[in-house]
Amino acid sequence: MLLKDKVIVVTGGAEGLGRTTALQCADIGGRVIVADVNLDGAEDTARTITSNGGRACAVAVDLAREDQVARLIEQTENIFSRLDILINCAGILLNAGQRVDQFNTESWTQVIEVNLSGSFFCVKHAVPLLEKSGGGVLVLLASGAGIFGGSSSVAYAASKGGVRGIALCVKSQLQPLNIRIHVALPANMATHMKIKAAGDSAERHGESRQEAEAKIRAECASPEASATFLAELVSDDGAVAAVDHLVIGLGDWEGLKAAVR
Ligand SMILES: NC(=O)c1ccc[n+]([C@@H]2O[C@H](COP(=O)([O-])OP(=O)(O)OC[C@H]3O[C@@H](n4cnc5c(N)ncnc54)[C@H](O)[C@@H]3O)[C@@H](O)[C@H]2O)c1
Repeated sequence: MLLKDKVIVVTGGAEGLGRTTALQCADIGGRVIVADVNLDGAEDTARTITSNGGRACAVAVDLAREDQVARLIEQTENIFSRLDILINCAGILLNAGQRVDQFNTESWTQVIEVNLSGSFFCVKHAVPLLEKSGGGVLVLLASGAGIFGGSSSVAYAASKGGVRGIALCVKSQLQPLNIRIHVALPANMATHMKIKAAGDSAERHGESRQEAEAKIRAECASPEASATFLAELVSDDGAVAAVDHLVIGLGDWEGLKAAVR
């Protein structure tokens, strides 16, 4: 049981990578707070965990609201009395395929608030409880979109590049507190976000939404492999393999472990 008794907050836990990660963390012994703006979805994930014999609780949170993120951490302390790990999987992608000069500023703000400010709020409010618990692990989900390029949305790419900036800045602040931070880059996954972005982008370019969505379903992986990687990364075994790696591609866990051995 790699995560035996660890207390783990997984944001975006209602669906996609967050849901799969929450289920896998619970399967290997973690006690999970499933956090999401979609409370029904988060409750469904938590119920699935408890009906399999695991421990979980759902909490509603809008990551764009600092007061709600602060309350999420307070509730975590009230429920489980500590925090060992936070994995920030929540995220949005808007206006896929929209050229920058037509990109709607309201959508820009929304994406930056959820993806970038939300990541900052998670780190800011989790750190004191992690410190009080003796240290721990923070994982922020970024994307190749903000690091290597190739995104369909300027706001999404900017937000994900910014997430890396947060980690670059705070890594050395957190080391003396025994807190490590990683930025995780999943390979493309056939989740709601990716399928909708492909459909929106195709439609904007006069192409078939159905065909674009079907292509993503056929070509992209399900989130299981990335979730398995994340669950191992945040464990004490992960500390041995990944302690000095800030940005980690979720396709390459075995390679990373082999390189360290
Ligand atoms: N799917 C991919 O191919 C891919 C690739 C690279 C990076 N990522 C990143 O991985 C993470 C997970 O993406 P996914 O594909 O599972 O997406 P998804 O759309 O399937 O799930 C995202 C989850 O975030 C929640 N959420 C959205 N806004 C929120 C808010 N304001 N507050 C709290 N929760 C909110 C949603 O309700 C949903 O449960 C995201 O950060 C995404 O940017 C995904």
